[in-house]
Amino acid sequence: MTQPLIVANWKMNGTVAEARQLVAAMKPGLAGVKGVGKVLCPPFTALATVSEMLEGTDIGIGAQDMYHEDSGAFTGQVSPGMLAEFCSYVILGHSERRSLFGETSQSVAWKVAAAKAAGLSPIMCVGETISERETGRAEAVVDGQVLTGLVGVSNIDGVSIAYEPVWAIGSGAAASPDDAQAMASRIHQVLSDRFGPPAAETPVLYGGSVTDENILDFMGQLDIDGALVGGASLKPDVFVALTRAAAASV
Ligand code: PGA
Repeated sequence: MTQPLIVANWKMNGTVAEARQLVAAMKPGLAGVKGVGKVLCPPFTALATVSEMLEGTDIGIGAQDMYHEDSGAFTGQVSPGMLAEFCSYVILGHSERRSLFGETSQSVAWKVAAAKAAGLSPIMCVGETISERETGRAEAVVDGQVLTGLVGVSNIDGVSIAYEPVWAIGSGAAASPDDAQAMASRIHQVLSDRFGPPAAETPVLYGGSVTDENILDFMGQLDIDGALVGGASLKPDVFVALTRAAAASV
């Protein structure tokens, strides 16, 4: 069985000093939770500090984005190799990157391939907007994001998919567990059709207004293998509680 993965996406929150406080507040609680993978994704500027603080623990570290080139004249960008010094995961194709910064499934595909080549585990985000859902296009949109985003890889070992309906992110209105399950199941099927039956073991996370109060509703679903958590991951008590609840549900 796939080990569940709980990923904290801190987004653009926290100076180094604040990241230090957050880690100090979470680390003892998180370290005691066994049976789930735990990953913190701070802003780039806090990666070094957070990785130092988590050395020797079983808490993983991820970045929130990267560029696909190794090096060169790409002002402002961060390469896979630069990240690999600090972390082993990278979130790619988050809906905020897609909607605010021009990320496309094609650029996500370059990044996924480059991340894998650098030994990073990509957490590739997909999800439909509310209008796409209301017009019956959610499945087609997510299928397209999954298949295009993975076009440059021949096997998907090390890849996780985060299904995050755009309208559920930061809204306090999570998807219904049934709808999330239906899409997660579909994603597993799409992966298995494209890469072969073992790809059905790829972790599919749910993201969008996950809290300690609703995590069990999602973890109880057959095809949901964890969560990508934004707002609630900035509250140490809540994040530790939801991680603990996820572990207890396994
Ligand atoms: P949220 O964010 O938990 O605040 O909805 C999730 C995400 O954007 O990854």
